[in-house]
Amino acid sequence: MTEIDFIVIGSGVAGLRAAISLSRGGRVAVLTKDRLDESNTEYAQGGVAVALSDEDEIELHFEDTLTAGAGICDEKAVRVLVEEGPHYITELIEWGAQFDREDGELAFTREAAHSRRRILHARGDSTGSEIIRALLAHARRIPEITFLAHAATIDLLTEEGRCVGVRFIHPSENLRCEMRARAVVLATGGAGRIYSQTTNPEVATGDGIAMAYVAGAEVSDLEFFQFHPTALAAPGAPRFLISEALRGEGGILRNDTGEPFMSRYDQRAELAPRDIVSRSIKAEMERTGCQWVSLDMTHLDPDFLRRRFPKIHLTCLRFGIDITSSPIPVSPAAHYLMGGVRTDIFGRTSLPGLYAAGETACTGVHGANRLASNSLLEGLVFGARAGEAALEEAPPLRSVTTPAPIHLSPEDWIFDPLIRYQTQELMWRHVSLIRNHEGLSTAISRIDELIRLAPNSRTLNLLALARLITAAALWREESRGAHYRDDIPGRDDLHWRIHSVTAIPHGRAAAAAPPCIKGRVSVNL
Ligand code: FAD
Ligand code: SIN
Repeated sequence: MTEIDFIVIGSGVAGLRAAISLSRGGRVAVLTKDRLDESNTEYAQGGVAVALSDEDEIELHFEDTLTAGAGICDEKAVRVLVEEGPHYITELIEWGAQFDREDGELAFTREAAHSRRRILHARGDSTGSEIIRALLAHARRIPEITFLAHAATIDLLTEEGRCVGVRFIHPSENLRCEMRARAVVLATGGAGRIYSQTTNPEVATGDGIAMAYVAGAEVSDLEFFQFHPTALAAPGAPRFLISEALRGEGGILRNDTGEPFMSRYDQRAELAPRDIVSRSIKAEMERTGCQWVSLDMTHLDPDFLRRRFPKIHLTCLRFGIDITSSPIPVSPAAHYLMGGVRTDIFGRTSLPGLYAAGETACTGVHGANRLASNSLLEGLVFGARAGEAALEEAPPLRSVTTPAPIHLSPEDWIFDPLIRYQTQELMWRHVSLIRNHEGLSTAISRIDELIRLAPNSRTLNLLALARLITAAALWREESRGAHYRDDIPGRDDLHWRIHSVTAIPHGRAAAAAPPCIKGRVSVNL
């Protein structure tokens, strides 16, 4: 298949929802680099925030989102999210998604920085997996949608300043192929794997952001990376997420002597915003010289814990921790990228023909810090909107001869393992929870050295994104939301209530050149 009406890259919540919208107007190919159900979405635990309960109001969800975003949310985008969210969740329920219920009514839980219980969840702590199950089942019934799994996109094709398709590695034969389309929707998810410590699965390497940047699209707000306070920190265990919903249900953070410490750092204690809890844990770990703190659930009813958090309970058991009787060792890990490919509220990027949605996009809904459980909702709402916009605006396909596929050897396209490892360690050391001029400058020089050694475009993409994140963090001379600089700890609304926006207008040719912050755009308030 070398031509199709629409290409969607990624099969998480945003990609699947976009594909469903697009299928009303033509044939859609969903390309995804692993199994169809391997994505950040699949691992989402806590739930999806939506103002649907009797005690809630859309306006409160709006306010909570803005407060978490620390002054730089795009209010128009937030309004779309909270106002259209209930419609898209109701639609998802009609398509078969089964959220947990109590006495037949939807059950809402609480998470940090939400003023109401507004988080829907499924199978206790498997919300993302249920959303993917329902969306995939729905999408598979639509004959216009074709899935191509294990197909890694490595490049966006551009012609005359327009995105016209993709270059990808064909799953079975190490073939580099091209596919052209009327429009491309980028839904490649987040970039947690740019750090050595992360809750994200292997696929989350930020490819889409780097590809869009290289193709000439603007990227924005990359300095804002959210670090989740509580990833499992047991020896030999992966950095499995220990959901914030545990703290929402009464979990207590304790230091190595068993002392609950959060109220020493913030009066909201365990339910303070995520960045504050993460930095408090880091400070407490440094103060006590311990590599972790504990999340204690042992005062809660064991049956409730097993029922409400079955996946966490079973996963911890595999590593010798029974959460009903033992505290869970946890520490922060990279979790969610607020920035990404800059879009308007219809998912349009600055590159015609290219739309973006979900974690890879920067719609401005999260500002400097995402409110917990807003991203599944964002994927649904803006995935649908990007699909609708592409459907309406895409010109007819211009047929051209597509070059024959080229055989590649794996080293021509897989990540260089050593460079990836060095990048992840560097990013964790200098560009994570606490940053400063010296560390960020060191990281930039080191990344520039690695850029010169990159053997293929995929490795270069990873480094380009690391460079972009680091440069943006160096550029922002203040602390705001998830971006904290210990050399400039205050928030400076007078000068910095702005977004970082970066682009290389001449696209691919400049891929190897160090990216820089090109401009700034005032927040539209
Ligand atoms: P993803 O779901 O990550 O999908 C990206 C897709 O793109 C994948 O299919 C991937 O394989 C594909 N892809 C990537 N690169 C390429 C490439 N080069 N070529 C082809 N395909 C590619 N958010 C909430 O709102 N509530 C929660 O409870 C919650 N819990 C979370 C728990 C964990 C452990 C994690 C990691 C995240 C959690 N989040 C949560 C965040 C949320 O899951 C994500 O932000 C959201 O699911 C992103 O959806 P997406 O569709 O944009 O991307
Ligand atoms: C969690 O369950 O703690 C993750 C929620 C989120 O990232 O939104």
